[in-house]
Order: sequence, then C-alpha cells, then structure tokens
Amino acid sequence: MHLHAQCHKVLKLSRFCCVVQTQRFFFRKVINALNEHINEKTQEHRESFQNWSEFQNRGFKRPEYMRSWVIEEYGSPQDVLKMENLNTPNTKITSNIDARRSYLYQAVNHPNDVLVKVHCASINPIDVRICEGYGRRLFNFQRDVLFNTIGGLLRPFKSVQERFVEREFPLVLGRDFSGTVVDVGTRVADLQPGDEVYGAPSLFKFGTLADYVCVDLNEVAQKPATCSHIEAASIPYVGLTVVSALRNIVVKGKSPKNALVLGGSGGIGTFAIQYLQSYGYSVTTTCSTEGIAICNRLGADCIDYKTQDVDKAVLEGDKFSVVFDPIGAASPEWAGQCLVNCGSYVSLRSPIVELSDKYGPLFGFSASMSTLVKKKLQNTSINVDWAFFKPDRPALLEVARIIDGGLIKPVVHPSNIYQFEDTPKAFKKVEEGHTKGKVVVNVSGLPEAVQKPNVEKIFHL
Ligand SMILES: NC(=O)c1ccc[n+]([C@@H]2O[C@H](COP(=O)([O-])OP(=O)(O)OC[C@H]3O[C@@H](n4cnc5c(N)ncnc54)[C@H](OP(=O)(O)O)[C@@H]3O)[C@@H](O)[C@H]2O)c1
Repeated sequence: MHLHAQCHKVLKLSRFCCVVQTQRFFFRKVINALNEHINEKTQEHRESFQNWSEFQNRGFKRPEYMRSWVIEEYGSPQDVLKMENLNTPNTKITSNIDARRSYLYQAVNHPNDVLVKVHCASINPIDVRICEGYGRRLFNFQRDVLFNTIGGLLRPFKSVQERFVEREFPLVLGRDFSGTVVDVGTRVADLQPGDEVYGAPSLFKFGTLADYVCVDLNEVAQKPATCSHIEAASIPYVGLTVVSALRNIVVKGKSPKNALVLGGSGGIGTFAIQYLQSYGYSVTTTCSTEGIAICNRLGADCIDYKTQDVDKAVLEGDKFSVVFDPIGAASPEWAGQCLVNCGSYVSLRSPIVELSDKYGPLFGFSASMSTLVKKKLQNTSINVDWAFFKPDRPALLEVARIIDGGLIKPVVHPSNIYQFEDTPKAFKKVEEGHTKGKVVVNVSGLPEAVQKPNVEKIFHL
C-alpha cells in the first residue's frame, strides 16, 4: 500500500515535470520567435536609418560629422563627460551600440519626429544629477517600456551587461534646446525645415548637447520670435516645469493673488516669479544677498535668507495663496502657516526618482505616492502637491506668447554663456549651485545663435 502511494507520488511528480518542460519549451519557442521578429524589425529600422534618401532629396546635406557630449559611465561630470566626434558618412551601423551612438543624427524615423539642428542648449541641475546616476532605474525602465515596449518586456531574458550597455550608454546629456528644423515626419503639419524652434525632450530620451536632436512634435514648438537662440534655449526646461506646477493654480486665480517663491534667483525661480506676475500675482521670494539685485529687477520683494530670519519675515506678513518651493526648503506644515485656507503648496522636490533608484520604479512610485497621500491627509486645510517637468507643446506655445508679449524675459548673464567645447565648465558652474538665472551652451557657434532677431511682426499660432 505504502509502495503504491510512493509510486503514485513519483508518477504525479514526473507528470508535473513533463508539463513544466513542455510549457518551458513552448514559452522558449514563443520568445525566440518574438526575438527574431524584433531583430528583423531592428535591422530594417537601422537600414532605413542609414539611407537618408528622403532627407537628401529635400535638399539637405547630410552632416559630415556630429559632435555630442556623452557619458559612458556615471560619475562626476568633470571625470566622465566626453565629447564624441563622429564622422557620419563613414560610420556603418553594425551593432546596437552604433545605432545608439548615431541616434541623434539619423533622419526622421517616425511620423511625429522633428529633427533639429541645435544652436544652443541650457544646463540644468538635473544634467549634473543624471550624469551622477540619478534616475538610472526609472529612466531605463521608461526607455524600455515606452521606447520599445516588446523589446523592453523581453530584455529580462538578456544578460545584465547586455541590458545595461544597450539601453543606457553612451548617454547624451542636455535637457533643452533652441535651433532650426532640418526635417519633419509625415504627420508634422505646422513645422517645416528652416523654422526656428525651441523645446525639451522627455527625461528618459537622449539629450540636446549635440549638433542634432530628434524630438517628438509634443516636445518642440516655434521659439519666441523676439529671442536669440541663446535666450530661447534658457527657457524650455524651467518654463515647462513651472507651467506644469502652477498653470492650474494661476488660471483659477484664487485670491489673494500673492505668492511666495522659495529660491527666486535660479533658473526656476527667475521664471516662476515672472510667470506668476504675468497672471497678476505679486511675488515675494527668498534669495541670498547676491541674488537680491536680480530678483528685485524682476519685480519681486526679497527676503535675504543669509541675513534675515525667513520664518519671521514670512510668518509676520500677509498670508499667501501660493507657496512654490523648487529647492525643497519648506514642508507642507511650514507652508500651512503662511498660506490662506485652501492655499496651494507646490514642491518640485519629490522622492519618486530617488526611491525608484533604490527600490525599482514600481515600488518607488507607489511608496512616493503613499507619502504624498499621507502629507495631503495631514494638511487638509491646504492643497499639497508635487510637480514635475513635462514635455508639453501647448505650454511651449503659451510661454512663447508670454515672452513675445514682454511679460517674461530670459535671464542669461553673458558670463553664463559657454562655447560647446567648454561644456564641462558650464556643468561646473551649475554644480556649484549658486547660479543666477540660467547657464547656456552655444552649441553651433554660428552667428545666428547669438543674434537678436529683427522682428517686425510676430505671428503666433
Ligand atoms: N521636479 C522637477 O521636475 C524639477 C524640474 C526642474 C527643477 N527642479 C528642482 O528645482 C531646483 C532648482 O532648479 P534651478 O534650475 O532653479 O536651479 P539653479 O538655477 O541652480 O538655482 C538654484 C537656486 O537656489 C538658490 N538657493 C539655494 N538654497 C537656497 C535657500 N535656502 N533659500 C533660497 N534660495 C536658495 C540658489 O541661490 P543662492 O545662490 O542665492 O543661494 C540658486 O540660485 C532643482 O534643484 C531641482 O531640484 C525640479
């Protein structure tokens, strides 16, 4: 009887093993078939990348070479940043790495693509942080899932080293640009070669510190007609972040129309002060003694955080309807004391990226969301929110209109303009953390990069 039970168990086990083996066999077959399909598609993709025929037929000359600032490993910008200079006509794409290296100067590949010759690009604190490894897990996840969905799902079956190299490096840095359109995809109706544009690609995409950048239509728009490329390049990343943080609030225009901006003299601060004022807000800001001149010139009341007691100065004055905190200097509890009932506290410092780097994107995101919900529940008398940079074409158009209307002025001091070869110096300046206004790199070095346009009539969409 006992023997019979044992035999039965062994039989059951071997039947189970058989089923598992068969399933594994079929699963592998499916994966291999999918892999082959993807390889074929990638090959087609690369070939179409390489021929440039459409591009050339429209009278554009393929660039002889393409310069870009890339990193091939994470680390301090001064150690890992390097300039790549690729001779495009002679570069044959034979591997994924080649495809990645050549990504930015390839012809338009999707109907919504816009290929831009970059004249200028600005440096943001996030460039320094991405260089040091910030967001590596979240942005790689996005590269996989959003860029290449099926490929992303299959990647776990590849070796760790293969995944790492394929997706990530060489990584081009730079988050925003101003330049000239050189080619557009078939669905791009209102931009054409020769148009002067500005914009910012999504964070997980490759950057703008290169001669050419290929972006989606949602990431680019006609640049402000009154700005030089140097000025226009200083706007998109900070402008889109501020609009995504404050647009809903300023459009509703809850009274009193006064706002507190913490850290007013940097890129985000100088833009936020002017954006709020363009919607009729009076703005108070905190800045260092060295930042007072610039913030006063923009029309903000200043609290010098080096010589004054910020708590006392803020809490003794009138209450605000908005506290905007790009630098993470406040907490919802603190903001609650200086906000009117139902006022808004918006912070740009969320832990999502850090937690995603630590625990993976899904867990990092859910942990962050539960923190936000907790903060909201603990501060029910005010609206607590985090905001993020978001590519947004209508916002780029809105900002261009406000700038051309004279309500927002780009803040770029001549000493903060760097030549392309000096990009590491520009990174150093931003790393030091006391930038006044924006730091911009003159990528093309062409006369039109710095020339102020001669504008008689401005047309906006
Ligand atoms: N969530 C997002 O999507 C997003 C997007 C963009 C930016 N951000 C955040 O926004 C921050 C600011 O970006 P940015 O481009 O404006 O950087 P930035 O140009 O380097 O400016 C930072 C400014 O903060 C000021 N500052 C530092 N500590 C301060 C304090 N305790 N009180 C008042 N001001 C202080 C500095 O001025 P002083 O020299 O006068 O101290 C500096 O001008 C970044 O660090 C980033 O975390 C978030």
